[in-house]
Amino acid sequence: MCGIVGYSGSRQATVVILDALKKLEYRGYDSAGVAIVGDDMQVHKDKGEIAVMESTLPDFKGGVGVGHTRWATCGRPSKENAHPFVDCTGRIALVHNGILENYAEIKRKLITEGHRFTSETDTEVLVHLVEKYFHGDLRAALNEALKEVRGSYAIVMVQVGSDKVVATRKENPLVVGLGVDENFIASDVTALLDYTNKIMYVMDEEVVELDPHRVRIFDRDGEEVKRQPEIITWSAEDAQKGGFEHFMLKEIYEQPEAIHNTLLGNVNALESGEFMPNVDFGGIKILACGTSFHAAMVGKYVLEKVAKIPVTVELASEYRYATGAKECPLVILISQSGETADTLAAAREAGRRGCRTLAITNVVGSSITREVGETFYTRAGPEIGVAATKTYTAQLVALYLIAMRIAYAKKTMSTDHLREMRAALIALPQVVRRVLDNASEAEAAAEDLYQARDIFFLGRNINFPVMLEGALKLKEISYIHAEGYAAGELKHGPLALIDSRTPVVAAVIKDHTYDKMMSNVAEVQARDSPVLAIGTEGDQDLPNVVSRVILIPEVPAMFVPFPLSVVLQLLAYYTARRKGCSIDKPKNLAKSVTVE
Ligand code: F6R
Repeated sequence: MCGIVGYSGSRQATVVILDALKKLEYRGYDSAGVAIVGDDMQVHKDKGEIAVMESTLPDFKGGVGVGHTRWATCGRPSKENAHPFVDCTGRIALVHNGILENYAEIKRKLITEGHRFTSETDTEVLVHLVEKYFHGDLRAALNEALKEVRGSYAIVMVQVGSDKVVATRKENPLVVGLGVDENFIASDVTALLDYTNKIMYVMDEEVVELDPHRVRIFDRDGEEVKRQPEIITWSAEDAQKGGFEHFMLKEIYEQPEAIHNTLLGNVNALESGEFMPNVDFGGIKILACGTSFHAAMVGKYVLEKVAKIPVTVELASEYRYATGAKECPLVILISQSGETADTLAAAREAGRRGCRTLAITNVVGSSITREVGETFYTRAGPEIGVAATKTYTAQLVALYLIAMRIAYAKKTMSTDHLREMRAALIALPQVVRRVLDNASEAEAAAEDLYQARDIFFLGRNINFPVMLEGALKLKEISYIHAEGYAAGELKHGPLALIDSRTPVVAAVIKDHTYDKMMSNVAEVQARDSPVLAIGTEGDQDLPNVVSRVILIPEVPAMFVPFPLSVVLQLLAYYTARRKGCSIDKPKNLAKSVTVE
């Protein structure tokens, strides 16, 4: 996720673009840059937040330009990898948000054709492709270039000698803002609301050409599209949250995209081994904290079942004390921020013990990537809400992909079975969308929970750690004491705490744990506990047994953690909202925990 802006009009483009970029900083903030059309292309960029780049920005003059604030996905955050990129002639500048799957092969070809590259990014191939096909018409060149790229993108370009801004999108947002003697384009309306509230949304694969007086939109066949502008009535702050009340809710709703982006490229590389080429190890240890630790626990089930490799999971903060344990050949460290002090210390310790180390993180170039041998990047985009949501489901995707990669390489599963798993993975964004469509049920269920002092979350097998995560999410944002428990363990102690004032949230999924979970539900109901059951669509029995039920789409048992986690996130969110809590910034907690 990055923020992009384009402008053509009567004002100084630098001023407008900087201003608009600052509104988009929540989409990424590891480097930034602008390109302003003058006699030559005037480009300035730097690593860090927009203010860093701004502090050394020359006084560029001109009414046309593009800008970018980056959240790195391909190539670490650095001045060289910051956007905009210019072609070899220095006359075309381009910014991009998205992921190009086949950039490496295009780059090889362009280099043999004489193009000079200056960065590690996928984006840079776009500007050279456009250069290759440019014969005076930027839109025509873009159309040609797009025929060669695979992936997702929002692209904005400008060219010396022209007041036109040319842009397009696929699976990444782009909106046009209409002004008087000026027009704008940006990743979202937030960037534009200080200038205009007259907005036109750009649809997938449409191409936009704008100048100060006219905006033209073309469909994928090159036919001009007529579109009426919409008038936006949101405030700039609402717009930054995409109209959602909190970042957490927005990020819960971004999960289909986060899952899709993390799958992009990787799911096609499962057989070829482009990621994790060497799968020669006999055991795995996973180290993490908090939500990432729960992702690790889910990962253990998947890795053991699919890759047939023994897995141990340990809290990163405890790893240093486990001196006697036999060391594992591969240690996976999971940290969405890549900055958690305990996980960094564990990475160093694993390195000292001679283990091969692999990090799963959402932040390109974060500290953990410097402590480990290999890194797998999730592509959830920046997460602003303190409670981890989309980064967690993206971590799950990473672990499933790693398990399947090992299975393909070591043939631990039949090809048919792997094909089915692959299809289930690809279907996940749709499954999650269906859960989100039912969010009102979680909102209604929150009414039963918000006054409770204690709540138990019960599950079995792969859904046990998912319930641990559900309990963590609830306690951190609603301040209700919540405990996740393996349902079979309840009778060994905690049952003593169950009564009519202690609600139980139970995962009663139609799989091999169903009958036992039904017995556990009966067990707590016999102690008068109000039960919220999360079950499988089509289950006729469950709704007759419990006071409230939320049904999730039927998916293969191993994939239930995805829809189940999303329901639990919504439940935590709506419960905290009902209590009036500070959802995006819960008390005593920070997004990145840099102390041990
Ligand atoms: C809970 C939460 C924390 C983090 C934990 C580890 O919602 O966000 O429990 O999961 O602090 O953070 P990372 O993954 O950045 O290492």
